[in-house]
Amino acid sequence: MTRNSNFVTRESNRLQAFPTGWFLICFSDELKAGEVKSVQFMGQDLVVFRTESGKACLSDAFCPHMGAHFAYGGTIQGEILRCPFHGFCYDTEGTCVKTGYDTKPPRKAKLRTWPIEEMNGLILAYHQQDWEAPEWTVPKLDDDGWTPLVHHTWEVRANPYDTAENSVDFGHLSIVHGYRKTEIIQPLQTEGPKLTARYGMDRDAGVFGKRRDLRAEFEITKWGLGYSCVEVEVAEYGLRSRHFVFPSAIDQQMLKLSLAISLRHVTHPEKINPLLRLVPRSVLHKLIVGASMRGYKNDVSQDFEIWRNKIGVERPPLAEGDGPIHAFRQWTKQFDPTRTGEDDQVISAAE
Ligand code: FES
Ligand SMILES: [Fe+2]
Repeated sequence: MTRNSNFVTRESNRLQAFPTGWFLICFSDELKAGEVKSVQFMGQDLVVFRTESGKACLSDAFCPHMGAHFAYGGTIQGEILRCPFHGFCYDTEGTCVKTGYDTKPPRKAKLRTWPIEEMNGLILAYHQQDWEAPEWTVPKLDDDGWTPLVHHTWEVRANPYDTAENSVDFGHLSIVHGYRKTEIIQPLQTEGPKLTARYGMDRDAGVFGKRRDLRAEFEITKWGLGYSCVEVEVAEYGLRSRHFVFPSAIDQQMLKLSLAISLRHVTHPEKINPLLRLVPRSVLHKLIVGASMRGYKNDVSQDFEIWRNKIGVERPPLAEGDGPIHAFRQWTKQFDPTRTGEDDQVISAAE
């Protein structure tokens, strides 16, 4: 096939600019009080730390004094971060409150901190290339009665636009993941940084026991490119769960891809396996979440080879059966600081 301007090279499928929005730094249970951890985020070296009172903070990794890395010997003392090199101390706003020699802190010793929100077991950070204040936040979910998140993180070579597009790429659900009888129950809708859609499909029940088809409904809610929550309903089992995906750019080509699952209820466990009726609820929930996570990891990893090796196609010649790719790409423009809004023609038979 002849390459034309519609195809971009594999090299340029790397991120040209880091997207705007809220992205996962880590899960709350990965950061204990008093811990200082190194994080690579959006091509920058950062540290995430938690003070003794429990407040999480994200800052540049290098001390503004003479450049020591806080994750290598830095300590938390009460509510401050202490540098291992000359003992300069910073509060959670990044202000130097003390030197190691009890002299007056230099005014220019200011540590850059990032906007973060901690909720629902997640530490999310806001990225905007010009450091403008967040224009929106991800709303807190009501997680009363839901099990704590069970999570898994990979590092994969992928572009966050591609991984986010995956959930509206309706066509690949049957080809790559083997779902059957896929249907769109509620077409994609967008409102600012929020995107929603609802699908139904049959999938293999193998992960829960016998190999047969099982009907499931998926309600997708995205807040920007970095946060996706899918509420899954399997009526036959009386099962309701939440599946989360958090793509977070490490640099221009590597992505930290985190998955998490939380379970609300499973009211007919005997339909999965008659023996499950005898199992106490907490054990039952653990078994179901464990099995769901195995299936979820298997599903998502089916996309890795494609993501790793694909190139970008600016104006895909879409067919009936493809998902709402055009509407999705229109929506993503708001997160891409390089997009001008003029170059967005998608040849569409599907929309
Ligand atoms: S480099 Fe951090 S106190 Fe000197
Ligand atoms: Fe996929």
